[in-house]
Amino acid sequence: MHIAVVGLSHRTAPVEVREKLSIAENSIQPSLAALKGNDHVLETAILSTCNRLEIYTVITNPEDGIKAVEDFLSGYSGLSNEELIPHLFSFHHNDAVEHLMKVAAGLDSMVLGEGQILSQVKKMVRLGQENNSLGPILNRLLTQAVSTGKRVRTETNLGTGAVSISSAAVELAQLKLGQSQGNDRLVSLESEKVAVVGAGRMGRLLIQHLQAKGCSSVVLLNRSKERAEALAKDFPELAIQCRLLGDLNDCLSVCSLVFTSTASEQPIIDRSRLDSCKRSSFLRLIDIGVPRNIDSDVSGLKGVESHDVDDLQEVVSRNQEARQQVALQAQGLLQEECRLFLEWWDSLEAVPTINRLRASLESIRSEELQKALSRMGPDFSARERKVVEALSKGIINKILHTPVTSLRAPQSRTDRQNALSVVESIFDLANKKGSD
Ligand SMILES: NC(=O)c1ccc[n+]([C@@H]2O[C@H](COP(=O)([O-])OP(=O)(O)OC[C@H]3O[C@@H](n4cnc5c(N)ncnc54)[C@H](OP(=O)(O)O)[C@@H]3O)[C@@H](O)[C@H]2O)c1
Repeated sequence: MHIAVVGLSHRTAPVEVREKLSIAENSIQPSLAALKGNDHVLETAILSTCNRLEIYTVITNPEDGIKAVEDFLSGYSGLSNEELIPHLFSFHHNDAVEHLMKVAAGLDSMVLGEGQILSQVKKMVRLGQENNSLGPILNRLLTQAVSTGKRVRTETNLGTGAVSISSAAVELAQLKLGQSQGNDRLVSLESEKVAVVGAGRMGRLLIQHLQAKGCSSVVLLNRSKERAEALAKDFPELAIQCRLLGDLNDCLSVCSLVFTSTASEQPIIDRSRLDSCKRSSFLRLIDIGVPRNIDSDVSGLKGVESHDVDDLQEVVSRNQEARQQVALQAQGLLQEECRLFLEWWDSLEAVPTINRLRASLESIRSEELQKALSRMGPDFSARERKVVEALSKGIINKILHTPVTSLRAPQSRTDRQNALSVVESIFDLANKKGSD
């Protein structure tokens, strides 16, 4: 058995490729079932976020298992292998474990140390467990990744002052406004007529950051008004005007800065919509949706500047150097967590021998117990029988404790294999049954 991860991220693929491989929550179940349907895939889990799609697997062998995942990704995205494979990465065994720990800690994120990724890793675990696609190995690995993510955030400064995609989006707006005024600083958005489209988690965070950056009023558009109104109630100091998505054109006509953050699978703003609006001012669009909410055909349109999630790299890079130093603090901790998982994984090699040893001693114990009890005859009470049975089990467990612990203890592969073959031979386990 092998652990592997195959996927793509903002590091390997542009948003136009990533959006074809964004697997919405309601498509996770059939996707897990399709992957598990392959004979080479024993366990699997899917991590789908705006910046990455990663498929974690336990596979029978790297070649067939990785090919099975690549074929699934190609089928799902509609991209040919030639178009897709240059954007994919795959890691195997130690490297796959290290990669997951890094992802959960936020060290592989576009915005170093951001917190959203940890809840997305937790969601991967929950969906895997609900859909029975995890077995003992991925369950252990993914659960450990979640606790590693939490540890990194509590035991290092990585989470302190970390920005997020939404705060980077607001910073990008400030930077672009500053650049349009001839300087390279982040300027206040106070004078902007701002709209946010989408009242989900990202919409909420955008509004939070807009308020922090000096915005005093925002138009909030959403498909359903109730959600927008509920969100607005949480920001009593900000004048939030809630509108339905049907009012989008009115909004595009009067606003100067529009953020889009909906989970729509199709673009909600394109060139023809913008052409049909009578715009009164220059319009800056910032789209953090993946799939994108703004069609690429708006590019080059006069009086419009449009940015997608990949453009956030410009502001992220400005903050990255200081955060790299903080990230170094987390590296030692990640190495320790990887080592613990790999030691556990190595110790699994001892399980079949340990099971056979237990089964062998158990059969001797129960056979000898039956012989002894039959000699005692009916005078022996039920209570006395129980005491003798417990005594025999206790002796076996005490005898097994030290050899089992030492067989499972961290050691080199050769040492473990030597120890296992000694145990197999002295207890003559080769032909004994035990659950593997
Ligand atoms: N979560 C993250 O960490 C993260 C980070 C960066 C980017 N993003 C991207 O940001 C977008 C929103 O994510 P989220 O986490 O805020 O999602 P969310 O909490 O589930 O909210 C989804 C939002 O999208 C709206 N929506 C869904 N389907 C729609 C459709 N067909 N047409 C119009 N509106 C629709 C919903 O409107 P209703 O309220 O009416 O349902 C809601 O406002 C996604 O594209 C995601 O990939 C997410």
